[in-house]
Amino acid sequence: MAPTHSRIPTITLTLLTLSTGSLGQTSVTNEFTDPATGIVLQRFFGARTNYGFGIALSTSPSNSFIGQLSFPLNDGAGWGGWSLTGDMEGPLLMAAWSDGTSVVSSFRQAENEDDNPPEVVGDFSVRPIAAGTSVNATFLTFTFLCEGCLGAALGLDGTAATAEMGWALSDKAVGDPGSSAGVLEFHNVGFGEFQADLALARRPEFEDWAARAGAPVAAAAGATAFDAALVESGEDSGDEDEGDEDDDDD
Ligand code: HEM
Repeated sequence: MAPTHSRIPTITLTLLTLSTGSLGQTSVTNEFTDPATGIVLQRFFGARTNYGFGIALSTSPSNSFIGQLSFPLNDGAGWGGWSLTGDMEGPLLMAAWSDGTSVVSSFRQAENEDDNPPEVVGDFSVRPIAAGTSVNATFLTFTFLCEGCLGAALGLDGTAATAEMGWALSDKAVGDPGSSAGVLEFHNVGFGEFQADLALARRPEFEDWAARAGAPVAAAAGATAFDAALVESGEDSGDEDEGDEDDDDD
């Protein structure tokens, strides 16, 4: 019997390993140095999709972060986004895409998973870091200072050592891509959550990097105010199939 018993842990571990791979256990961020700017980020990267989202924080209390979205474009079409939580409904979201020449970015807030989340405004702004921003027909990189983007009322207070965040990627054209109110279709390439290591994201160079950010990007006319009430009601609403929360195709 002894040999049988001793094999059980091995089998259990093997099954755990298999299920981790097949069920998409939450991915974690790793250190990444952006070659264009030297900014050091904690980055989630999907090997299948080539979607990346990196974050850098100040070592001092701050409600801002430096973010970097990078992802492939499909002959110029597509969009990528991040969520301040692992959910889509409620928290502050950002999507970015190409207008054919430049990167367009847009803050969004979703009340449901059926419609294009509308553009929102609030006490937050995005200030591009030009040296870390580029776009062509096949790839987009957007590096930015997200000022005032952290806080419990937005979905992530940023003081914890780690935080669950979300990602989404589409290769379909954005409707009216020249406007930050452009219409997004479902993230058909992939979506899910990841664990951002905020403790390791804190860097003493943060203020120097943040000082490179340009002017805040204005929202399109008609953008509505971010609604903090949706952040609470959106979390744990139980209206989604837990098993589908991560499509495991990062
Ligand atoms: C800034 C843009 C967006 C971001 C960052 C985003 C992010 C996410 C994330 C993280 C999830 C998984 C967690 C959850 O179920 O809440 C999700 C699910 C979902 N999203 Fe989005 N999303 C965006 C835009 C959209 C758009 C434009 C649509 C469709 C019009 C959409 C439709 C859905 C649907 C249907 C699900 C559930 C899928 C499933 O559980 O199988 N999303 N989104």
